[in-house]
Amino acid sequence: MRIAILGCGYVGLVSGACLAEIGHSVVCTDNDESKILTLNQGGLPIYEPHLKEIVARNVDAQRLRFTADLGEAVRYGDAVFICVGTPPLQDGDADLSAIDSAARLIARESRSSKLVIEKSTVPMQTGQKLVRALAIYARNSDSSFSVASNPEFLREGTAVLDFLHPDRIVIGVGNEPAETQLREIYRPILEQNVACPIHQQNCPPKEAPKLLVTSINSAELIKHACNSFLAVKISYANLIADICENMDADVEEVMQAMGLDPRIGPSFLRPGLGFGGFCLPKDIQAFIRLGEKAGVDVSLLRDAELINKRRIDHFLAKAVNSLWTLKAKCIGVLGLAFKPHTDDIRFAPAMELIGRLLQEHVRVKVYDPQGMEKTKALFPSIHYCADPYELADGAEALMIVTEWDCFRQLDWLRIKSLMQRPLIIDGRNLLPSDEMRAMGFEYQGVGIPTAEAWDMKSRAAS
Ligand code: UDX
Repeated sequence: MRIAILGCGYVGLVSGACLAEIGHSVVCTDNDESKILTLNQGGLPIYEPHLKEIVARNVDAQRLRFTADLGEAVRYGDAVFICVGTPPLQDGDADLSAIDSAARLIARESRSSKLVIEKSTVPMQTGQKLVRALAIYARNSDSSFSVASNPEFLREGTAVLDFLHPDRIVIGVGNEPAETQLREIYRPILEQNVACPIHQQNCPPKEAPKLLVTSINSAELIKHACNSFLAVKISYANLIADICENMDADVEEVMQAMGLDPRIGPSFLRPGLGFGGFCLPKDIQAFIRLGEKAGVDVSLLRDAELINKRRIDHFLAKAVNSLWTLKAKCIGVLGLAFKPHTDDIRFAPAMELIGRLLQEHVRVKVYDPQGMEKTKALFPSIHYCADPYELADGAEALMIVTEWDCFRQLDWLRIKSLMQRPLIIDGRNLLPSDEMRAMGFEYQGVGIPTAEAWDMKSRAAS
């Protein structure tokens, strides 16, 4: 099928490349011409594992191309996916102006019948507004439109795998032809007829994905409901972690036991610095606004958001407790991206943390395998280190903010020898507390027993 993708951000690029990978002819466009230029020169405006190979392969096979000509892209596609940004406004509402522009563009440029698919996360009833806008702005008597909602559940860092091997595909449709067309688009994925992007062969990794056909309103709601639930789950884990810290219990043990209950499940129970990134914080905010407008009591969501906002206060309080004062101290921040395997720093806990450390006149050093370039634009004058050893050199504390796997493999004894004081404040429970303490680190994790309690336990054991 001929597919047009409007918006070359994370969602648009991954969707476009993967739809080409499963055999469709895809054109991607964006009103940011510099992005299209980068893509046409073989670069990528984002880092996402496996995306580069998939883009290159499909461009070579002439199934994927990029154009700055928005109208040409719209006219080309039998199906047009709207993947533009819906960033938060000051009051927490989603900014839908890019969706509105996309609707007017599609209406103006279309010369045939089109399936218009919302993939961006949007508040409920956006589909209805889209139908109205397309009808109002249509300019050609040969054009007609069906609207569908097809929310994405892509996680940054695993977005390609999530697209090609999803657990479920949700399509919200208002008529049968739209359903048939979407079934056809996703047929190779539903039939698991897709080569694994990592191994380049058919590796049936798990059960075939479930296809859920819903109303457009339900599909729009499903995305918000999922992300808000995940946010609540993380805040719940953080609440338990705070209780553990006060009671010398171990949150890792508690979460492990909770996760073994199939009614709860093990994922999204990792306590730490809270949820960041461009989706969970903005989606829960928009969902709160949506609920308030509908007159629904959303205090559960508000509390989850509040718990999340306090994570950095809580983390900094630990630093003050150990270092007494922060002014002029040298602190290394290990990890900038909002989570591993991405260079995305939007709403990353590290950004707020660095801002707060600078307010306290801390000498901040940072290191991240992918997130340094983007951070430089926000904090040009902090010290960017070539590796974690340079970061440790002379530091009075190391703060672990992103749980990159490669940090586990570091030579921690070497790091200890380089530090002015071997203090580690681990915001992600990345490192094994017992081993770090046995190595001589002053180690503080999230929701784990204090060093004093650990000392007593080790003495009792020996
Ligand atoms: C999320 C949703 O998971 C995805 O389905 C949706 O399409 C987009 O939003 P993403 O933003 O890529 O994906 O990241 P995710 O893996 O969900 O993590 C979000 C944040 O929560 C990160 O900051 C992560 O560190 C944090 N997190 C996650 C925790 O603090 N604890 C956990 O147990 C899980």
